[in-house]
Amino acid sequence: MWQGRRVVLGVTGGIAAYKCVLLARELTRCGAEVDVIMSRGASEFVGAVTFEAVTRRPVRSSLWEHAGALDHVTLGQQAAIVIVAPATANLIARAAAGMADDLLTSMLLAATAPILIAPAMNDEMYANAATQSNLGELRDRGWHLVGPATGDLAEGPSDRPGRMSEPAEILAHAERVLRGASTLVGKRVVVTAGPTREAIDPVRVLTNRSSGKMGYRLAEAAWQRGASVTLISGVSSEAVPIGVDLVRVDTTAEMADALRRSLSGVDVLIMAAAPADYRPLAPREGKLPRSEGAITLELGPTEDILMSTVADRPSDLIAVGFALETGNAIEKGQDKLQRKQLDMIVVNDALEPGAGFDVDTNAVTILDRRGRAQHVSLRSKAEVANAILDAIEHYRD
Ligand code: CTP
Repeated sequence: MWQGRRVVLGVTGGIAAYKCVLLARELTRCGAEVDVIMSRGASEFVGAVTFEAVTRRPVRSSLWEHAGALDHVTLGQQAAIVIVAPATANLIARAAAGMADDLLTSMLLAATAPILIAPAMNDEMYANAATQSNLGELRDRGWHLVGPATGDLAEGPSDRPGRMSEPAEILAHAERVLRGASTLVGKRVVVTAGPTREAIDPVRVLTNRSSGKMGYRLAEAAWQRGASVTLISGVSSEAVPIGVDLVRVDTTAEMADALRRSLSGVDVLIMAAAPADYRPLAPREGKLPRSEGAITLELGPTEDILMSTVADRPSDLIAVGFALETGNAIEKGQDKLQRKQLDMIVVNDALEPGAGFDVDTNAVTILDRRGRAQHVSLRSKAEVANAILDAIEHYRD
């Protein structure tokens, strides 16, 4: 995505400036040509030579450089994206006012490329009405914002936003801005993932082998396409994807409740979870002692989440289910598509090597209510997630 693309990285005077060396290095490593513009304050924190060493390009800091008379116009017009990180309260205020009193603010005024800023400042400065109104102004102009995050500041611990987002997060947001053009931009997507588990007693559970990997990759890919994403997940050791809101649940009933609470205004629901289908009808209050020997558990069915939430969904919501089968997968998938009133179902055969639970690859067939069937041969779950999202984006074609 970055190969051969030009990026302008504006760095202003905050302590987080040192972290932007890593951002510049990562962008360069990905193949981007990174032109760094430093404000006067930035050079109090990091030396220009450091940025020159990682980008292997000259660093600019003044409107009055030799051979750079038009830099303030050309840089932001030739770039694929302009990133300002860290963006101090001062830079944000000057940009909101349309000032052009140094190279960075002049470039921002002349830029035609999309602009992404990563605010970083003291938590009070961030909360101040002046800063909030300036940020609102920039947002209204179409600027993209990442963070600030909550956490420790240079001046001490804080539990309020102010701290600059980490370089990996800024990079992920920049990639999302660059990707643009998806029909999922601005849409709300809910993904369920992972297994649920049902208590036998306070320490033991009934569950299944789902790892959550497929659902997490779907949530990640939907966010990268510009959607706002809620991920409702049972127990999973997968890292929460950048940008995604996570709701953790344990039982099938909790997953059903969380889904009901998240459904208003949703455009796409992807039910990739493997909810436990049965639960012990009378979970023990105390730990079941081993001395009881053989025991019989009486199990009852759990709620079928799709059946109970999707049937009366708004007509413009696209509902996608999964069917993991062992044999006759397509036939059983067709049946579930009808029975669960889905728009689309992603079928996989757990007996196929490399597909299904707890592996990093998958092979699926995507069936839809309009009679289309598309086979996606064995590949990484991230690639399968993108194939599923392509099918969702083209569902109404
Ligand atoms: N599903 C659900 N609620 C459940 C179980 C499953 O909403 N209690 C969803 C899954 O997330 C998936 C789809 O239904 O999207 C199909 O899941 P699957 O377990 O294959 O379906 P079941 O109805 O449990 O069918 P089977 O009789 O094959 O177990």
